[in-house]
Amino acid sequence: MSQSIAAAAIAAAPEYVKNAKLKEWVGQIAALTEPDQVVWCDGSEEEYDRLCAEMVEAGMLIKLNPEKRKNSYLAWSDPSDVARVEDRTFICSAKKEDAGPTNNWEDPAKMRKTLNELFQGCMHGRTLYVIPFSMGPLGSPIAHIGVELSDSPYVVTNMRTMTRMGKAVYDVLGTDGAFVPCVHTVGAPLGKGEKDSRWPCNPDTKYIVHYPETREIWSYGSGYGGNALLGKKCFALRIASTMARDEGWLAEHMLILGVESPAGEKTYVAAAFPSACGKTNFAMLIPPKSFDGWKIYTVGDDIAWIKPRQDADGVTRFYAINPEAGYFGVAPGTSEKTNFNAMATLKENIIFTNVALTDDGDVWWEGMSKEAPAHLVDWQGKDWTPEIAKETGRKAAHPNARFTAPAAQCPSIDPNWEDPAGVPISAFIFGGRRATTVPLVYQAFNWNFGVYMAATLGSETTAAAFGAQGVVRRDPFAMLPFCGYHMGDYFNHWLKMGDAVDATPGIFCVNWFRLNEEGQFMWPGFGENMRVLKWIVDRVRGRVAATENALGWMPQYEDIDWTGSDVTKEEFDALVKIDPAAWASELEGHKEWFDKMGDRLPKALDLKRELFSLSLGK
Ligand code: GTP
Ligand code: SPV
Ligand code: MN
Repeated sequence: MSQSIAAAAIAAAPEYVKNAKLKEWVGQIAALTEPDQVVWCDGSEEEYDRLCAEMVEAGMLIKLNPEKRKNSYLAWSDPSDVARVEDRTFICSAKKEDAGPTNNWEDPAKMRKTLNELFQGCMHGRTLYVIPFSMGPLGSPIAHIGVELSDSPYVVTNMRTMTRMGKAVYDVLGTDGAFVPCVHTVGAPLGKGEKDSRWPCNPDTKYIVHYPETREIWSYGSGYGGNALLGKKCFALRIASTMARDEGWLAEHMLILGVESPAGEKTYVAAAFPSACGKTNFAMLIPPKSFDGWKIYTVGDDIAWIKPRQDADGVTRFYAINPEAGYFGVAPGTSEKTNFNAMATLKENIIFTNVALTDDGDVWWEGMSKEAPAHLVDWQGKDWTPEIAKETGRKAAHPNARFTAPAAQCPSIDPNWEDPAGVPISAFIFGGRRATTVPLVYQAFNWNFGVYMAATLGSETTAAAFGAQGVVRRDPFAMLPFCGYHMGDYFNHWLKMGDAVDATPGIFCVNWFRLNEEGQFMWPGFGENMRVLKWIVDRVRGRVAATENALGWMPQYEDIDWTGSDVTKEEFDALVKIDPAAWASELEGHKEWFDKMGDRLPKALDLKRELFSLSLGK
């Protein structure tokens, strides 16, 4: 029986699929998972429309009012499946110590056995879709190919927006090209005649599994975001970070943006902030009115692949591409005021997940407008009014509700965003949510100190994502959930990469989230972040002053352009104030964190900590 399933799966392949290894693998997975049929996706618009129509018919998607949101849909997930599941995410390297203290590890042989049992017949009653995709522009020397096998049509349609998906990938793959195999199931086989649910998933069992040595991904039980769209965190970060370590490049949780001055000079920076800490906002920033002639261009909002390359002038620089083709962005908090460009991107061709439905067939979420509509259907399909919200605290949109949007629709998209060679990076910026201690901005003394700062990056947990609120969690390089190997080795890789280029980017730390005694943000944020960004650009171009202190180089009030701002010198001084007692305890936190790394912590970082400690004491 399994033999005939495999044969049928392979026979279903279009004639333009010439890769023998791929066909054999699809046959094997079909034989294991036993779907009703196998569909080889071509990535066409017609296919997208057909799958969306089928999902609308089945009650999995709601078609939005085309007059409000052209060609757009809304999905509501199962309440048990609303975000990435870090405690169910595994790095299965041959040796436990290679996964390191920050990853869940399981013996690969044991995990393969577990998954083989779980995947046995897991696609009964469903269709297995073959989804070929490229992370990065097709054929770019920085790009890589993956093929996801999934039983979720929602995954197919999202992958079409988020990656370069479809037929053209087979041309690059050829007869014997390499690809990263990604197997995904919602883990909800259907019995004969059984009606499917609105959001099939497995509420009890979830596994997001990576085999870094053999570069394979297996995901079971979830249909949501990074758990299911396997090109994103699983491939472009966890697997790619191990490829990058082996091959001498960087795969990072970073946005990429270009700053254009009134003179037309362009400076690209890449910035790492933890999940839901403002990457999409920063990537699409609109400068304050007083910054006449300055413009921000978006290259990417979540992931950067960065490789050293020698230019014609003989200088080696870091070049970055955005491996994605779309945004899977946080909806709540997004408004014309906080992110005008995102709102403009969301006008058509969008899949919304877990936002609320308005009575006229549009979407709404907390923060979209000052006043909530008088009536909505919330993300759980229940009636919602502002009165109900007041009484029960129930949110209309889930705090991790997201939009899937084509990057090309963003008004601030960079003309070079699909340049296969990438864009040159002049600065790296790191930031988290810190209510206290960390100043608005500072520049690390040098590369190694910058690596130290990024390695000890902390962010306060938000209730939405992690339960307890206000606890500082170390999130080095914003990569804690995304590094496919030992974090100590990752730090070492970063230290070494400083020597891979002649034009070493400056490293900066920012904190938009400092609170005053009343618990309010001290910094206006959003577009106003341009003032800090301009200082950063001027620093790497060597044309603005900075003052040295224990942390690094910092601006004085007069080093920042305040035209059109009402931030006073007193307020600024409070934003950049360094409290020695707070930093002493911060350094204790760094020590505790470093102790976890054991003997794989690079000595250079421990030395930096001691140096730092001494200079604070001065
Ligand atoms: P992932 O997609 O999860 O990786 O997250 P992201 O880093 O792209 O997060 P996003 O830009 O969607 O940030 C979402 C949250 O950050 C929203 O609640 C925003 O309101 C908030 N935010 C973004 N920029 C700022 C800022 O400058 N100041 C303040 N106070 N909040 C901000
Ligand atoms: C993140 O959590 O950092 C995201 C969303 O970008 S997800 O793709 O679901 O991981
Ligand atoms: Mn992210």
